[in-house]
Amino acid sequence: MATGNPINSWQSNNNIVSLQIHKPTDNTVYLQYEGKKAEAEILLNKQIIDYITTYPLLTTQGKNELKQLYFSDNLNALYSFLENEQIKGKVNLIYIDPPYATQSVFQTHAQQDAYTDLLTGAAYFEFLRERLILLRELLAPTGSIYVHLDSNAVFETKMLMDEVFGAKNFRNLITRKKCNSKNYTRKSYGNISDYILFYTKTDNYTWNRPFDSWEQEKIIKEFPCVEKETNRRYKKVPIHAPGIRNGETGGEWRGMLPPKGKHWQYTPEKLDELDKKGEIYWSPTGNPRRKVYFDNSNGIPVQDIWTAYLDAYNQNVKVTGYPTEKNLSLLQRIIETSTNKNDLVLDCFCGSGTTLVAADLLSRNWIGVDSSQNAIDTIIQRLKEELIYDFSLHQT
Ligand SMILES: C[S@@+](CC[C@H](N)C(=O)[O-])C[C@H]1O[C@@H](n2cnc3c(N)ncnc32)[C@H](O)[C@@H]1O
Repeated sequence: MATGNPINSWQSNNNIVSLQIHKPTDNTVYLQYEGKKAEAEILLNKQIIDYITTYPLLTTQGKNELKQLYFSDNLNALYSFLENEQIKGKVNLIYIDPPYATQSVFQTHAQQDAYTDLLTGAAYFEFLRERLILLRELLAPTGSIYVHLDSNAVFETKMLMDEVFGAKNFRNLITRKKCNSKNYTRKSYGNISDYILFYTKTDNYTWNRPFDSWEQEKIIKEFPCVEKETNRRYKKVPIHAPGIRNGETGGEWRGMLPPKGKHWQYTPEKLDELDKKGEIYWSPTGNPRRKVYFDNSNGIPVQDIWTAYLDAYNQNVKVTGYPTEKNLSLLQRIIETSTNKNDLVLDCFCGSGTTLVAADLLSRNWIGVDSSQNAIDTIIQRLKEELIYDFSLHQT
């Protein structure tokens, strides 16, 4: 795999050519469409609040505890959260799985109406943008937002999120395998993926690096050597890296210079220390390499293609019967990675409540909003069945 290094000079046939690096103050490419409001207009649009009824339907509020479910159009709920000192600027993680602009209506497995997804084009993107702007205001400075979409709307939404959150706060476009291979009849490749856009509010954000566990076959392939004295499995990696250094790491170690155009990864003192501990492998020709032990590995760092989180619906595992219900483990992974215990998680398109259940199981606080009666009924049922909480009902 070829990867480029960011550089500002290029050496070719011994001629150094300086590159002009263009550093515009704002490199964002904006999505333009009819009816796009100014941000200030959206943020100041408080009059909606005056006549809506937004209320926590289910609420538990103990010490360090905030768990609330709202039955409301989320625009109204978000405006009301902006007036709430407990919520504004305090949300640590937002996950949303909004309608995908599919021009479809969705029914439950029991054929009851769940929700419609009929907005398209400019109306759809402005619907989403308004909410993204308000969500940004609710996020804590160390907070993260994950937006789940499919190929219908993800590319335009990436542009909107660059605009709202800043392109520099874009972290990943995660590709999720949503279902197993299909017997596709259309003249195109089978569609088994959808996407999650991951942004943070700033570059100082909560990050508990996730790891996948090693499978035996992979351990043997990745760590092929076994140390005779200790029986520890290891792999050999170079102790030099690309780039010339003038300090200690560019000088001699054990009478050897680093190869041309490279430097030692450690100071000679550190290399001596590693060698003393038996952590340097010397080839028969005297070439040193570092031993990386399997038992020091936390697992395989998670990459941006996720194949283990197919939706329950696609695995024929009935969970709630609500359409588009997401995989609970998917939400658990996101929540564990981007929050700590007692943090606040918000899902304002919460559907069957997958995010809320995942957050609760991981001892996080949560707020859920949905405008579908069926979603609210499903969540209440789910909270009663899956969580052993005695929620008090506050329907006003
Ligand atoms: C794709 S589903 C979410 C599914 C959810 N992630 C789950 O695991 O069950 C989208 C949800 O957004 C809700 N929704 C759509 N527009 C809304 C709005 N303006 N305010 C609140 N909820 C809305 C729908 O009722 C639907 O439940």
